[in-house]
Amino acid sequence: MTATKPTGLEGVVAGDTAICSVEQGALIYRGYEIQDLAANATFEEVAYLLICGEKPTPEQTRFFKDELVANRALSPQAIEVLKLCGPLLEQGSAVPMDVVRTVLSVLGNGDPDAQDNSHEAELRKAKRIVAKIPTIIGHMQNIIDGRDIIAPDTGGDANLSHAANLLYMMTGQRPTPEAEKVMDVSLILYAEHDYNASTFTSRVIAGTLSDMHGAMTGAVAALKGPLHGGANEAAMVMLKEIMEHVEAGGTVEDWMHKAFESKRKLMGFGHRVYKNGDHRAPILHALGRKVAEQKGGEYLKLFEIGEKVQHIMETEKHIYPNVDFPCGMTYYTMGIPVPQYTPIFVASRVTGWAAHIMEQHANNRLIRPIASYTGPAVRPWNS
Ligand code: SDX
Repeated sequence: MTATKPTGLEGVVAGDTAICSVEQGALIYRGYEIQDLAANATFEEVAYLLICGEKPTPEQTRFFKDELVANRALSPQAIEVLKLCGPLLEQGSAVPMDVVRTVLSVLGNGDPDAQDNSHEAELRKAKRIVAKIPTIIGHMQNIIDGRDIIAPDTGGDANLSHAANLLYMMTGQRPTPEAEKVMDVSLILYAEHDYNASTFTSRVIAGTLSDMHGAMTGAVAALKGPLHGGANEAAMVMLKEIMEHVEAGGTVEDWMHKAFESKRKLMGFGHRVYKNGDHRAPILHALGRKVAEQKGGEYLKLFEIGEKVQHIMETEKHIYPNVDFPCGMTYYTMGIPVPQYTPIFVASRVTGWAAHIMEQHANNRLIRPIASYTGPAVRPWNS
């Protein structure tokens, strides 16, 4: 039997979706272009659009926001597990993405709808998960910083938006409207991207008729890797290395040429689908640069160096930044600790994962491709 076998399934159409279209020409969530959503919608409205299928009315938005606020608090068991993870984070055997994965799994163990894959139960579970991820991140950062957990009974300040509450829960400080806006737009940009590796993982798991929390737990593990969502942290680590090189008297150009010679992969660049640029990158870059201009100093320098890196990659390699490159610089400029960048990606992408898990369950067939065998020919065990 012959079968096509592109490496990494490149270019393979693996199924249908009505949720999102990723093309070089446009990025669309359920018919709305990403530029339109970033300029005119809030994260809560986009989350509703993805999970419930249509743009919400103002009343539906109010109701949805209230539902999220009401579901923000974590169970005492989940908080206990988070506290147990504190020393593991400190000793370095766990990173925040691992803790998000663990606590999300624990939340599934306690969810009253855990074993129910009906559409209604999945809608309830999706809202609970979306509501609780920022609380996991916030509590975890409080534990890392050695402060008391903020709002353990409520998961935040009911008057704050999803984006503002995420920042509040991490720091105890209510963010400025500008910081809230940048976070809100970054969550919109990260929310959905068709059959990317983590979403595809969630669909494979859901395709066995397993449950939403399990499918998302697997998706978190897939997102963690630096070739996928982990690139927003890795891009910032790389930029710090370049900044240190420049501070020591080197130039961006010589750092880059050394990287090219050693065939090093530059984090935050390239994409499996976009070969001429990622629609999301310039939107986030512009917002992040504005914050850097206001703050000045090392933050503006960071953006200037990042822009040089970008220019050299584009002119010499024709490789463009993906969303994770400006994200790294933007979150750094906002004072967010680097190991929380990918967990924040999770806080957004759970909306897309939820939509895909529900779409998979609504019209399910087991996902099970075939492999081309390259091992030894048949041989006797007793020779
Ligand atoms: C995300 O899929 C999605 O939609 C994901 C995502 C989402 O929203 O879900 O958009 C989020 O995951 C963004 C990607 C984050 N990852 C990184 O920034 C890591 C660095 N980038 C790469 O390693 C790479 O570009 C990938 C993993 C993103 C894509 O890999 P591909 O499609 O397998 O491409 P490839 O590695 O085969 O590269 C093709 C060529 C190679 O050169 P040649 O061997 O042909 O000469 O381009 C070169 C690569 O070496 N190349 C790079 C490069 N990316 C590609 N060279 C240096 N640095 C890079 N970053």
